[in-house]
Amino acid sequence: MGPLELSVALDAREVEAIRRSRPFRYLVRPAVHRVRGGLRAVRNATNGRNGHAPLPAKPLVNGDAPASPEARKIIDQIATHSWYHTIELPHGVVTPGRVDHRNQLHYYGLPEDMTGMRVLDVATYDGFWAFEFERRGAEVVAIDLASTADVDKSRNWNDAYDTMSTPTPLGQGFKICHELLGSRVTKEICSVYDVRPERLGRFDLVFTSDLLIHLRDPLAAMEAIWTVTDKVAIFGDVFHPDLEGLKSDSALVEFCHSGASDMWWRPTTACYRAWLRLARFSRIEEVSRFVLQADFRGEVPKVVFHASP
Ligand SMILES: C[S@@+](CC[C@H](N)C(=O)[O-])C[C@H]1O[C@@H](n2cnc3c(N)ncnc32)[C@H](O)[C@@H]1O
Repeated sequence: MGPLELSVALDAREVEAIRRSRPFRYLVRPAVHRVRGGLRAVRNATNGRNGHAPLPAKPLVNGDAPASPEARKIIDQIATHSWYHTIELPHGVVTPGRVDHRNQLHYYGLPEDMTGMRVLDVATYDGFWAFEFERRGAEVVAIDLASTADVDKSRNWNDAYDTMSTPTPLGQGFKICHELLGSRVTKEICSVYDVRPERLGRFDLVFTSDLLIHLRDPLAAMEAIWTVTDKVAIFGDVFHPDLEGLKSDSALVEFCHSGASDMWWRPTTACYRAWLRLARFSRIEEVSRFVLQADFRGEVPKVVFHASP
């Protein structure tokens, strides 16, 4: 049977609703990425032999060199996963992640040398940040949920979620990278809401990026993080530039959960400050604003705060 093509006229709101739906995000888009990733792998592995140049956007292998046999083995190993993070692996292989933090590290004000620091990476996903902190010398604990089934959702929409998409286990990408990098990062299945010193110990630095907007209760997450932070907590998350200008001192936030999306809030920077103060962080410093380098439709403006208990 050949390919089936359908053309349907949709208005912008309908397109947006589909784009935000879980079947699209968790089934259609990952499938497209897998196909694209597979094509890139094929093109890179055969670079120079069939006239195809490597794709400039996200090569699976760094530089122009044809993939070595070792690199090809890793490319096969990573091909089964739908990557969120772009992570550099041995033999020049790079995961075809949708989010590439590599050129934006300077926005977070991280210590260059983290030797001797105990660091918690909250919501690690494929583990980009945890492996970066380890590379800088830290002892790292990384936490995340066990499955997409565990993300915060509206209780009365549970059924809709369950029928719309099959829950996907989280942590596959982390496991692959952990092994390939020979990492010693400790991974725990733990919701940010359950972060407590009795469970995880205390940390010099607690890092949270692109999590708060996905939570029903971002304040509870900050309160939990406060309990384990010894020196500094770094929060980098999405903010709402359009609301910023309205009333600069007011803690405005857009509530944007539509029942079946995964985004609850788009806060202003003043709102993040208010939440952080309420969570009992005392010194709160904004260190940067920038647009996340990611393969998403639409820009993702981020703000980074350093907060001390
Ligand atoms: C958008 S990704 C961000 C990944 C990474 N922190 C980064 O900055 O690239 C959101 C992550 O939050 C995790 N997450 C969602 N709810 C969580 C919760 N209650 N506790 C811990 N992690 C959670 C998801 O599983 C996913 O790994």
